[in-house]
Amino acid sequence: MSFSVAIDGPAGAGKGTIARYISEKFNLKHLDTGLLYREAARLVIEDGGTTLDVVRLEEIAQKVDTHHITEENLRTEEVASVASQIAVVPSLRRVLTQKMRDFSNDITPDYQGVVLDGRDVGTVILPQADVKIYVTADEQVRVLRRTKELESVAMQEILEGIKARDARDGNRQTAPLQVADGAIVLDTTFLDIKEVCEKAAEIVENALSDCEGIDNMSKTSSCLSKK
Ligand code: C5P
Repeated sequence: MSFSVAIDGPAGAGKGTIARYISEKFNLKHLDTGLLYREAARLVIEDGGTTLDVVRLEEIAQKVDTHHITEENLRTEEVASVASQIAVVPSLRRVLTQKMRDFSNDITPDYQGVVLDGRDVGTVILPQADVKIYVTADEQVRVLRRTKELESVAMQEILEGIKARDARDGNRQTAPLQVADGAIVLDTTFLDIKEVCEKAAEIVENALSDCEGIDNMSKTSSCLSKK
């Protein structure tokens, strides 16, 4: 695998914005892994909304197409909530995790590597990632950021949604949200988005400059583990 960056953190911490910035700045192929869970949730809702049958969930997960997910209709509180409910199911996670790894292994030479953001990228999906960043922020700040994003949704509803999701994502048995071994914790509570992106870019830049033979990276399993 080529150079890889794993970005994890709770809802509203800023990991999506960071991942997109890092992706452009360092020419890394980007996957927002939460979108796969959201797409599976959308299919569950389409299916009647009550599907928690493990076999059916696995079938639904198989249908998620990593290369053709559009954000349209996926950024709602309902989809987010169902996503975090089905995300506790190990068989569904197994299928989606494999799709994420396949995405990461399929990097064309025009990219320098890959950046994935989510909840278990550094712990489960890409435990050998060259750079791991755990993005966090005070709960109130995260709620305020989401309130600005989802203008039509009341703050109280967002607070409750975020609390419920954080609890489920942090306490589930399989792949709970936690700081991965070797991850750098980036607290964004008191930073604006420009500062957050610059700090994250500095972390990636340092890792890249530590990394020998960058032009040959596509041949190696992990740039930094070679050192
Ligand atoms: O990141 P986002 O808020 O879009 O993720 C939606 C939900 O998908 C999360 O609350 C979480 O339950 C699940 N998820 C996950 N593992 C990931 C990414 C997302 O369990 N790697």
